[in-house]
Amino acid sequence: MNNTKAIVFDAYGTLFDVNSAAEKCKDKIGDKWETFANYWRTTQLEYTWLRSLMKRHKDFWQITEDSLDKSMLTFKVDKSMRNELLNLYKELSTFPEVKSVLEELKKKSIKLAILSNGTPSLLSNLVKNSNLENLFDDVFSIEEVKIYKPDPKVYDIPINKYKVKKEEITFLSANTWDVSGGGNYGYNAIWVNRTNNVFDKLDYKPKNEVKNLKELLDLK
Ligand code: LAC
Repeated sequence: MNNTKAIVFDAYGTLFDVNSAAEKCKDKIGDKWETFANYWRTTQLEYTWLRSLMKRHKDFWQITEDSLDKSMLTFKVDKSMRNELLNLYKELSTFPEVKSVLEELKKKSIKLAILSNGTPSLLSNLVKNSNLENLFDDVFSIEEVKIYKPDPKVYDIPINKYKVKKEEITFLSANTWDVSGGGNYGYNAIWVNRTNNVFDKLDYKPKNEVKNLKELLDLK
């Protein structure tokens, strides 16, 4: 981390808990809420990759709605839940340690940024809603390049802005494939392994793995 000039965070799953929307409706959805939430997330990500490959871009909000529609039909979740789930998705909670870790990192002379598939308005609302707006130097959205992670054009965005070397960016993501994407691109990519998962076999092995963002503060 010594040569790090900017710390760049993935948003969904890394700072914000993507399952928190369905979890808040678990009484209405029932026991299947978690499998449903995971299916919604997986479908959403598949749509980002498929649309990038098909060169048929739609923004992340439209993809979130489309993937929710498929998931609700698959899991027979009542149609009346649609608006509630979508509204909750706009206000996802952060993981508990996020704010205090960002406040600690802010004391160093390092840029702090988000680099995410989310649209600029989704991201700025999430950041505002969690009172994080004074902590980030930049919130970068893939809408600048209209293709989704892990296309290298996405990982170019902070490099172009900060004029630093790829390895001077420490990138954190809880999504293994995003760590592989950023790492293969040339970032110092760190895996936030919140749920004790197995890493991908995609040509990049992170030098560091942390269980949550707090552990980042202990890395040399
Ligand atoms: C994002 C997704 C990958 O925030 O979590 O970009």
